[in-house]
Formats: sequence, structure tokens, C-alpha cells
Amino acid sequence: MRIAATADLHYGKSSQGALQALFVEASAAADVLLLCGDLTDYGLVEEARALAHDLQAHARIPVLAVLGNHDYESGHADKVAKILVDAGVTLLDGECCELNGVGFVGVCGFGGGFGGSMLNPWGEPLIKAFVQEAVDQAMRLERALARVETAQRVVLLHYAPIRETVLGENPEVFPFMGSTRLEGPLNRHHVTAAFHGHAHHGSLESHTSAGVPVYNVSLPLLKKANPARPWFRLLELEQRPDSGNGQEGVIVQGLS
Ligand SMILES: [Fe+2]
Ligand SMILES: [Fe+2]
Repeated sequence: MRIAATADLHYGKSSQGALQALFVEASAAADVLLLCGDLTDYGLVEEARALAHDLQAHARIPVLAVLGNHDYESGHADKVAKILVDAGVTLLDGECCELNGVGFVGVCGFGGGFGGSMLNPWGEPLIKAFVQEAVDQAMRLERALARVETAQRVVLLHYAPIRETVLGENPEVFPFMGSTRLEGPLNRHHVTAAFHGHAHHGSLESHTSAGVPVYNVSLPLLKKANPARPWFRLLELEQRPDSGNGQEGVIVQGLS
């Protein structure tokens, strides 16, 4: 099972054709393409249509996606989602799906910061509401992972679950890049690999406290790392006889 992953496409009204090469190359290299949010620039219907056109015209493999914060900007996330779903994209928002024996789970996630600097629900109601959104996103991730029965579980997020793949951004924006609350579910469910975007200037890869590989597949970051393309991360998952804990039976091989 070869997985191509990217994020932060930021399609605008006139972007049609912009990522044709990415979709063609991913289709040749992988069995599935993951899009980890910020699919559009302002969450506009016209932007979603431009992306839907390009995916239908050039993507020849299943496409799984989560929305990002930009896709919510204009208040039409439901319309953006429908256009993409109508184009054949499997949009994950607390759901799971299985492809070739691998379980995929996706949520957008939310901010709040990392580790000891994580925002806690204390004080004004607005602070508590902000934290509650991160808690809710983490719970939806946890519930979706609990429903997956495959030995290999791959997670799509928009926001980062760990601080390490945000490094490179201005530390002042770290609290808006992701939340440690998303890390626990990855560890508890022995996730094979997690992909996220959002941190355009972050770091390419690291791992959770329990060793779950985490890949920042933000397109600007991938372009900087590899200007000559391909602008996606490629992983190959191989199955070994399951040792019983659902984790050791898996090899994750980074190819690019
Ligand atoms: Fe973005
Ligand atoms: Fe974002």
C-alpha cells in the first residue's frame, strides 16, 4: 500500500490546472492520495469547483481528505465539502474508511498549543469554548480510531498533534498550529502514521512520545524541501505477520 500525502493546496478561483502535475504524479506513484486540509484559500464554492475539476481530470487513485481552517473561512464549508464529495473525494470528519486493508481516520483538529504550554479551560467562557473545540476534535479522533479494525491505522489531520513538526514557524504562533490533545489518541491506538498540514514553515517529520511517525505534508514545506517535485510525501506500508499488538507487524518505509 503506497500512500501519497500533501496539504495546504490553497486553491483559488483561478487555480485550475495549478496542481495537475502533482495529481498525475501521485496517481502513478501511489495507491491513495491524502489531502490534509486547506484545500481552498478562502473556502469559496468557486475555489472548491476548481480543485474538484483538477482532481476529476487528473487523479486516478482514491482521494481522502480533511478540511482545514481556510476551508471554513467563508462560512460555506458544507458546500465546499459537497462539491468535493460529488467529485469523488472521501471527506473524513470523524469518520473512518478502509482501503486495501488499511484503516484511514481523519479530523481537522484544532489549536491550543503543546505540552506544558497548552491552553487549559480556565477563566473566561470564550477560553473554555476554545479549549473545548480541541477536546471535541481529539475525542472524535479517539472514537473513530476505536472503530477501526485493521492492524494498520493511518490518520489525517490539518492541525499538528506534536510540537516537533511545527518547529520552524514563529514560536509566537505555535498555540495556533495544533494541540497536544491530538497526540494521545495516536499513541493509544498504535497508529501507523499520522499526516498533517497547516504549519507551512514547520518541519517535515518527527514522532509522538510513543514513537508514532508524524509527517508535516504542507505543500509549501514540501516545495521548499524538493523544488523539483514530487510535492507529496510517499510512504509504503508493508504487512508482516501480526505480533498481536497491532504495531510491530507493520513496516513503514519512507520513500521521499
Ligand atoms: Fe494552510
Ligand atoms: Fe491551515
